[in-house]
Amino acid sequence: MEMKKHAAIFWERLAELDASDYKPYLPSQNELRRPPTVEINNTCNINCLMCNTLMAKRQKGVIKDDLLIQVLQELKAEGVEAVDVHTIGDPLANPRLPQILAVFREVGMILVLSTNGLLLERHLDTLLEYRDISSHIRFSIDGATKETYELIRAGGKWDDLLHNIQLAKEELLPRGYSISSNMVLSNDNVHEVGQFIQLFRQFIDPRWMSFGFMNSLSPDTSYFHRVNLFPEATFPNRPCQLPFRSLWVHHDGAVSSCCRDYHGELIVGDIKNQSIRDVWNGHVLEKLREAHRKGDVKDYRLCDNCFIVDDRIVALFNALMEYLVRKEPDGPAEYYQEKVDRFTEIIQSGGPFEPKFSQPMFVKEILSMR
Ligand SMILES: C[S@@+](CC[C@H](N)C(=O)[O-])C[C@H]1O[C@@H](n2cnc3c(N)ncnc32)[C@H](O)[C@@H]1O
Ligand code: SF4
Repeated sequence: MEMKKHAAIFWERLAELDASDYKPYLPSQNELRRPPTVEINNTCNINCLMCNTLMAKRQKGVIKDDLLIQVLQELKAEGVEAVDVHTIGDPLANPRLPQILAVFREVGMILVLSTNGLLLERHLDTLLEYRDISSHIRFSIDGATKETYELIRAGGKWDDLLHNIQLAKEELLPRGYSISSNMVLSNDNVHEVGQFIQLFRQFIDPRWMSFGFMNSLSPDTSYFHRVNLFPEATFPNRPCQLPFRSLWVHHDGAVSSCCRDYHGELIVGDIKNQSIRDVWNGHVLEKLREAHRKGDVKDYRLCDNCFIVDDRIVALFNALMEYLVRKEPDGPAEYYQEKVDRFTEIIQSGGPFEPKFSQPMFVKEILSMR
């Protein structure tokens, strides 16, 4: 009864939302809140439609040990304990993963893995050997059927994914690994969310399944514009949070302020001759921040072409999914899909949020619907 009451309030309020009120959050100060990412390679074994790493003009490569030691030591001295290692590329496509993990262990740093998972078998022994410093894997999976998965994760084979995730379940989970997933939603796959939960919950705790919506960062934005679920709730990403929050160290030492800088357009420094702190406080990055504060980013092509779905919708969708899988952990695919369809319908027909329902309030309300 209590659950029903909360669900009714949730949908009622959602229906009242007004897209025209969207105001992105403006960071008031620069805090290196999210640890910098260290790109260990920018090569990939596949070429997903929404990502399209093949179009990147930056030189492909793998980070050298001395550079990796330098940057990890510096981050360690800054108090960082764990770093992501991907930008545009797949960490398991890195042939030097054992050596890289050895460096991480030497420095005493945790390595966080996000991967398409298709090359997991190749690295199984390495992952087991280094589970003291890498014990979590996020699988990026954008479909629940062979057809959809192979369409979006172009070059990836559905059977290979199932084989590798089964291996992760049998070999890694019992030895202390945890597994999560990320599904990037669009018109091409939103109809498979229910199936996704039903199929993959045998491998991944559904509370660890996250759902994202596409952004326009790929060099070819035609796919984004064709299948974006919520064009009416898609906004220029400015001010972007990233220049105020973190840094991405590329495999050659250049430092970018964007998580997916395909051509090296937002390089704000270089750790071969500057410290991370100096890059963070440097004038190149400050100029970019100022452009974002003013909302005038025409001098930055990547920023000027960056569009995102209203982040409150993303948060709301994830909160809803968490609510549903907690409420009905063993529900049939149709149970979740019905809610997803309703959510999509409401957002598409009206729009997001009344200003008074801030994102944290919404999330809090939904999460308390237990
Ligand atoms: C760029 S990938 C790199 C790491 C790894 N190759 C992987 O697939 O997880 C990191 C994440 O970004 C997501 N991604 C790729 N293109 C995206 C886009 N246009 N919008 C939103 N997320 C995207 C992927 O699905 C993945 O979960
Ligand atoms: S999303 Fe990951 S797996 Fe897909 S092309 Fe981009 S880097 Fe490669």
